[in-house]
Amino acid sequence: MNHSLDYYIAPGGRLQGRIVVPGDKSISHRAVMLGAIAQGRTEIEGLLEGEDVLATVAAFRAMGVNITEPHKGQVHIDGVGLGGLRAPDGVLDMGNSGTAMRLLCGLLAGQVFSSELTGDNSLLRRPMARVATPLNSMGAVIECSEDNCPPLYIRGGQTLKGMEYSMPVASAQVKSAILLAGLYAQGRTTVIEPAPSRDHTERMLRGLGYTVVQQPGIVSIEGGGCLQARSLQIPGDISSAAFFIVGAVISPGSDVMLVNTGVNPTRLGVITILKTMGANISLEKERMIGGEPIADIHVKSSELHGIKIPQEQVPLAIDEFPAILIAAACADGETTLSGARELRVKESDRIQAMAKGLRVLGIDVQETPDGAVVQGRPSFPGRSTFSGGTIESYDDHRIAMAFAVAGLCANDEIRINNCKNVDTSFPGFAELAIRAGLLVSKTRKAGND
Ligand code: S3P
Repeated sequence: MNHSLDYYIAPGGRLQGRIVVPGDKSISHRAVMLGAIAQGRTEIEGLLEGEDVLATVAAFRAMGVNITEPHKGQVHIDGVGLGGLRAPDGVLDMGNSGTAMRLLCGLLAGQVFSSELTGDNSLLRRPMARVATPLNSMGAVIECSEDNCPPLYIRGGQTLKGMEYSMPVASAQVKSAILLAGLYAQGRTTVIEPAPSRDHTERMLRGLGYTVVQQPGIVSIEGGGCLQARSLQIPGDISSAAFFIVGAVISPGSDVMLVNTGVNPTRLGVITILKTMGANISLEKERMIGGEPIADIHVKSSELHGIKIPQEQVPLAIDEFPAILIAAACADGETTLSGARELRVKESDRIQAMAKGLRVLGIDVQETPDGAVVQGRPSFPGRSTFSGGTIESYDDHRIAMAFAVAGLCANDEIRINNCKNVDTSFPGFAELAIRAGLLVSKTRKAGND
C-alpha cells in the first residue's frame, strides 16, 4: 500500500489576511530540554506540536521526566534538576530531528548513565562528528557509525572538563550541544563562533537564571550551576512564516500580516535578503516575550530583483533558502547564493533538491558546490514564472513547503511528492495555507488529469 502524502497546487491565487504560524521549533526543543533539567515546574505556552519536538518530549519522558500531553501549545514539565534524569529503557528515537539529536548528545554526554540515539533514514545520514569530536575532547565518550553518522552511543559516567572551542562553521546546534555539556563540566566552557548563529540557548539559559558570559562571537558558561524553572512563552516560528512571506511577496495582490512571529536578529536573514531584493516587508508592534523579540510581520506583493546574497547573511537564514530560492526565481535578473555548503547536509541536500525542482518548473539554475545561481523569470500579465510539473520533496519538509508556494506564480498544476514530513515542523500547513489563499489540496481534485 502507498502511504505517500502528496500536495497538488492549482495555479494562481494570492495570500491575504492575518496568519498565526505555530511555535518556533528551535525554541520549543530548548524549552523542553531545559525545562526537564530545571528545578521546579515549567509552564510552556506556544510549544510547537510538530513531530520533531514531540520526539524530544518522548525522549525526556523516557528519562523519567513528567511532561503533560501538549495541548494547543500548552505543556507543563516537572523539572528534575541537572542530575535528576534517569537511564532510558531503550534507544531514544529522535525521528527526523538533527536539532534534537545534536543538542541531546551534549546534554547526555554529562549523565551518569549511558544512552543510545537513533533516527529516521534522513537523520541516519547526517554528520555527527561536528558534535562528537568537540564533546569527546571535553572527556565525553561518544561513538558514531563508521561514516560519523548516527546511531550514536554515549557512554555515561565520564568526567567532563570545560574547554575553549573554535567552531569551524557557524552552527547553533554545535554551539548549543557544547554549552549543554558545559552545564555538567568542571570549570569554564567557551565557544567561539566564526559568524553569529541563532542564540536561543544562551537567551533561555539566562532566562532560567544561569550566568552566561557573552562578547561578540564568544559565549562562556561555568559548570555546576542550576536552572530555575519559570513559565516560557514561545513565539511563532519565522522559519515557518518564511513560506507565507515569500508567497505573499511573489504573488500580485497579496497582503498578509504574520502575527506574533519571532524576530530574533540571529534569525532575520530572510527578511534582510528579501528586502535587499526589493520586498515590501515591515515589522510592526515589536515587543519582547520570554526573552525573545517578536513582531507582526507585514508583507505585500513586490517586484523583486536578483542579488548576490551576502555570505554573512547565510547562517542567519540557513533554514529559509528553499523559500528564498523560490523568490529568486521570481526576481528580475540573476541571484547568486554562495557560502552555503551546509545546505547539502540538512534534512536533504537542499541545493540539489531546489535546483532539480526549479528546473522541472522551467527555471534556469546552476548548482555550485556551496550554493546556486538562479536566473529569475519575473511573472507579469500573460506570463507566469513557473510551469507545472512534479517535484520530489526528498522527504524534506521545507522543500515541500517552498514548492507549494511556487504554485502562486505557476501556469499549471504543481504536484509535490511525499509531503508527510511537513508535520515535523509545521503541522496544519496546508490548512492554514488554504485559508490564506493558496490553492493546495492533499488529493487530486476531480477534473485534473
Ligand atoms: C538549529 C540550528 C540550525 C538549523 C536547524 C535548527 C537549532 O542548524 O538549520 O534547523 O535549533 O539550533 P545548524 O546549527 O546545524 O546550522
